[in-house]
Amino acid sequence: MAKKFKFLYNLYMDLEIDFKICQILKHAIDQTPVPYIITDDVGKILYVNDAVLNATGYTREELIGKKTSIFKSGKHNSEFYKKMWDTISKGNFFSSRMINKKKDGSFYQVRVNIQPIKIGDKVSFYLSREEDLTNIIELESKLIESQKLESVALMLGELSHDFNNFLTVIIGSLELIKDEMKQGSVYEQLLIEILKSAKDQANMIKQLLTFARKSVPVAKETDINNLLCEIKPLIQAQITSKNKLIYELSEDLKRANIDEQLIKQALLNLTANARDSIEGTGTIKIKTYNHKSNDEYTEPFHVGEYAVIEVLDSGKGLNDEALKHLFEPFFTTKPKGKGTGLGLSSVYGIVKNHNGYIYGSNRKDTSGASFRIYFPAI
Ligand SMILES: Nc1ncnc2c1ncn2[C@@H]1O[C@H](COP(=O)(O)OP(=O)(O)O)[C@@H](O)[C@H]1O
Ligand SMILES: [Mg+2]
Repeated sequence: MAKKFKFLYNLYMDLEIDFKICQILKHAIDQTPVPYIITDDVGKILYVNDAVLNATGYTREELIGKKTSIFKSGKHNSEFYKKMWDTISKGNFFSSRMINKKKDGSFYQVRVNIQPIKIGDKVSFYLSREEDLTNIIELESKLIESQKLESVALMLGELSHDFNNFLTVIIGSLELIKDEMKQGSVYEQLLIEILKSAKDQANMIKQLLTFARKSVPVAKETDINNLLCEIKPLIQAQITSKNKLIYELSEDLKRANIDEQLIKQALLNLTANARDSIEGTGTIKIKTYNHKSNDEYTEPFHVGEYAVIEVLDSGKGLNDEALKHLFEPFFTTKPKGKGTGLGLSSVYGIVKNHNGYIYGSNRKDTSGASFRIYFPAI
């Protein structure tokens, strides 16, 4: 009798532990911010945690009992889904990048990991876990963009270097000829025109060389706030009195090693663009602050501290084309004669030359663009 009782007692204890583990697992999945879905063997949703609701915008009632095809975005062909079902129905783990659709119709990118759950020999359920890829995809596109710019810079660097030498000889010789020429003659007039055009080209080449980083910056430890105050009148004159200029400078801004002349040039390029983007009247704001980067996997920076200058405007913002090609030389949306498309590429070169980072995007709080420059802090 005592033996039987012991057996029953042990069984009870085992069940009690199993039950506890089940409860713990359920709480863990309920509470994790990673989306988990459990479906039956045909993909009908039996369980979703709160993270799924947050990611998709659906309520639990809208999902339970529906097929997972509710998330189909139409971005994958039938082959893709066939391969997925072939894999999981045989009891194998499936993992792939996937574009899904939210309730509001917008898309989101995830890595879907599906684990078939067997009861006995039969695959009876599926457990799917989604990893959010928004951050990684953003990092990837930034990396591709910067690699592209690096190769363009390399190519243009060589070309513009030779061209610059060539133009220097031409301009020098033309100046000498001009000195000897009879004043007021038609030839002198022609020569002045040629000289002007050669100088315009030389100016363009100079900006390309800045982009290609052929010059070495003369950097010294600088208080960036001071520098911004120094050029305030210049910016004010440039953006005209129609636009309001606001400074919001951090009081404890870290110092950085910078070439003042180059950074002034970069800032004037950014504020000129800000001015051009504003139709009528508007506001241009310049902010400074410190930024600390701790995690190389979630931020596009090397770990460390940065002094940041941000230029914000209330203009029409960056269009899709501009967002794609922002720092490429010769990319411009302005009419001929107004834009050269060399402003931002030279700013890019200047920032890179300081081992810094530059990002441009549309503002989230209101209309207009924001450009942020990160300098490694001392
Ligand atoms: N603050 C801004 N707001 C809106 N668009 C901008 C802004 N800054 C740059 N852009 C876009 O980026 C393009 C490239 O700028 P840039 O390299 O300075 O050349 P450019 O000013 O000669 O056109 C601009 O033509 C414009 O479309
Ligand atoms: Mg410009």
